[in-house]
Amino acid sequence: MGRKIEIVEVGPRDGFQNLCDYIPAEEKLRFIDGLADAGITHIQVTSFVSPKAIPQMKDATEVAKEALARHPGLDFFALVPNLRGAQAAKDAGLKKVSNVISLSESHNKANIRKTHEESFAELDKILETLPELEVSIDVATAFGCPFEGKFPTEKLLSFLDVLYKKGIREFTLCDTTGMANPAQVREVVTKVKEAFPDAVFEAHIHDTRNMGMVNTLAAIEAGIDKVQSTLGGLGGCPFAPGASGNTSTEDLVNMLNEMGYETGVDVEKLVSLAREEKAKIPGIYSGHLLNMPVTV
Ligand code: COA
Ligand code: ZN
Repeated sequence: MGRKIEIVEVGPRDGFQNLCDYIPAEEKLRFIDGLADAGITHIQVTSFVSPKAIPQMKDATEVAKEALARHPGLDFFALVPNLRGAQAAKDAGLKKVSNVISLSESHNKANIRKTHEESFAELDKILETLPELEVSIDVATAFGCPFEGKFPTEKLLSFLDVLYKKGIREFTLCDTTGMANPAQVREVVTKVKEAFPDAVFEAHIHDTRNMGMVNTLAAIEAGIDKVQSTLGGLGGCPFAPGASGNTSTEDLVNMLNEMGYETGVDVEKLVSLAREEKAKIPGIYSGHLLNMPVTV
């Protein structure tokens, strides 16, 4: 048996949030069904955010409730920017949320209109009010910011330290606008794992400059066991100029399966689902297999 790598699909949130045309909840749920059928067990099903900021996610409660009802055994979670979102996620039946805070303060303000201090205070409120909820942190712009450029790794380490001291043990390092390179990923992952050996780190890498796959692989080779991606490579952050598609789940699974890693995911089912998605939903798809004339 090869080393196990957990695939975390974030398409229903990061893929869909950027699209202008509203995708009906039933359609979103059909993709979640397809992902589950292909063997994906971790899915970020939606985000509980202001519908003024992201109108696409106005059906968050409906999608989360129905997804849980259809697939009770799976690990479903949602992105939340504040206590209100965390409460709504819990009320919908979710046990886990990712609270997004950017390493770059200017991106944090553009994305969720908060300073770091305000975001940390909001996180305290979530942890105090909803102690039974599992909270991980999505560290947006962890590898660089479209407004402020790259940061020294020490800035990331101090940022994580603040969160660690609040009890957070799961962090997703997000390359929000695809600024990372494999050498940087290797260095950052090695340092964060050394500094916080009992924390779980995930990688969430965008494919903006065609480095999604190599950066995700660099993260895996540096010791990360859980990687996020989107079906078809659909995606991008509406509040980060230049953000484009994510790393494509089917391309990533195909590579990892071929390398002998254990993903438990059926790549052929994923490729058909990605093709169906592309045919139905116009958007930026950074995936490759979905455009190939043959099956894998
Ligand atoms: N869910 C639903 N509605 C929410 C909400 C939530 N979690 N949080 C706030 N709102 C509503 C408020 O009730 C208010 O509505 P109203 O104008 O009808 O009264 C409105 O949103 C603004 O609320 P406010 O507290 O003033 O927040 P804000 O305007 O400073 O915006 C956020 C802050 C975080 C709510 C908003 O920027 C947001 O949702 N951002 C999400 C960004 C995102 O998803 N980015 C991509 C993922 S990384
Ligand atoms: Zn993203």
